[in-house]
Amino acid sequence: MPGTEPLDLQAIVDDIHRELAPRLGEGKVADYIPQLARIDPKRFGMAVVTVDGQVFQAGDAGLPFSIQSISKVFTLTLALGKHGENIWKRVGREPSGSAFNSIVQLEHEHGIPRNPFINAGAIAVTDRVLAGHTPREAIGEIVRFVRYLANDEDILIDAEVARSEEATGYRNFALANFMRAFGTIDHPVDHVLGVYFHQCALAMTCIQLARAGLYLAASGSDPLTGHSVVSRQRARRINALMLTCGHYDGSGDFAFRVGLPGKSGVGGGILCVAPGKAAIAVWSPGLNQNGNSLLGSLALEMLANRTGWSVFGA
Ligand code: DON
Repeated sequence: MPGTEPLDLQAIVDDIHRELAPRLGEGKVADYIPQLARIDPKRFGMAVVTVDGQVFQAGDAGLPFSIQSISKVFTLTLALGKHGENIWKRVGREPSGSAFNSIVQLEHEHGIPRNPFINAGAIAVTDRVLAGHTPREAIGEIVRFVRYLANDEDILIDAEVARSEEATGYRNFALANFMRAFGTIDHPVDHVLGVYFHQCALAMTCIQLARAGLYLAASGSDPLTGHSVVSRQRARRINALMLTCGHYDGSGDFAFRVGLPGKSGVGGGILCVAPGKAAIAVWSPGLNQNGNSLLGSLALEMLANRTGWSVFGA
C-alpha cells in the first residue's frame, strides 16, 4: 500500500514482473500487420523513469519493439509546435467511443476525425508534419525529434515493419482518401501514409520510450537536460488527450483502472505519464478486444495501486 515511506520502485517493478510471469502470452498479438505477427507473445518489459532521472526496469525493458500508435503522441507534439492551435481546425478533441481504425464516424462528421489518436486523426496530424517537406524529410524530422526527446541517437525505424504495413494498410488508405476528399489532408495520400507508416514503425525499448515521454511528466520540459519541449499548458493538454482518447474505446476503462494518461500501440506497448513523478513504458504483445496490451494495462494498474500515483486524487 502507498504510504509515507519512500517507494521502492525497483521492488515494485520486479514484483509486477514476477506476478505476471505465469500469464505471459495471454491476449492476441496483432496480425493485420504481418511483420508484427512474428513477435514472441511472451515478451514483457517495463521501465519507470522518474523526473529526477532514476531508471527502474524489469524483463525485456531493453529490447526494441514497434511503438505503432504511441508515435501519435510525438507527432502531435511536433505538429502543435509547427502549427499551434490551427491543428484543431482539422482534428477534434473528443473520445471516439469506437475502434482505432473506424471509418463510419468520419463520414458523419464531414471528414474531421474525432481526436488525434485514432488512426484518421493521426493521419491528419501527420499531414501537418509533412507541410513544407518531402516525405523523406518529414520522416527524418520525426526520428530526430524522438531521438532528441529520448536523448538517445540509437533509435531507428524498422523498415520491414513500415513496408509490411504499406503493403496491407487498406483501411488506412480508405481513411486517408476519404479525408483528402473532404480537404482534411492537403498532401497526396501515398505521401502522408508513407510518413505515417514509418512513424508507427519506430522501434524503441521501454527505457527509451519512458525517457522520451518524460517531458509530459515534467510540465513540458525535459527535467534531465533542461530543454523546453512544450509549454506547461500544452503538456497538460496532451496528457488530457492521452487520458480521454489514448486507448480508443478502452480509454474509460484505462482511466478507471490506472488513473493516469496513457497511449497504447498495437505492438503491445503503452506509454503512461504520472505527472510530477515519472514516465512509464510497458510492453507485452498480447492485446485485449480494444487492441490495447492486455498485460501491459494490468501491469500499469498494479503500478498505480502500489505507488498511489493517480491524476484523480492523492
Ligand atoms: O495504423 C495502424 O493501424 C497501425 N500502424 C497503428 C495502430 C495502433 O497502434 C492502434 N493501437 N492500439
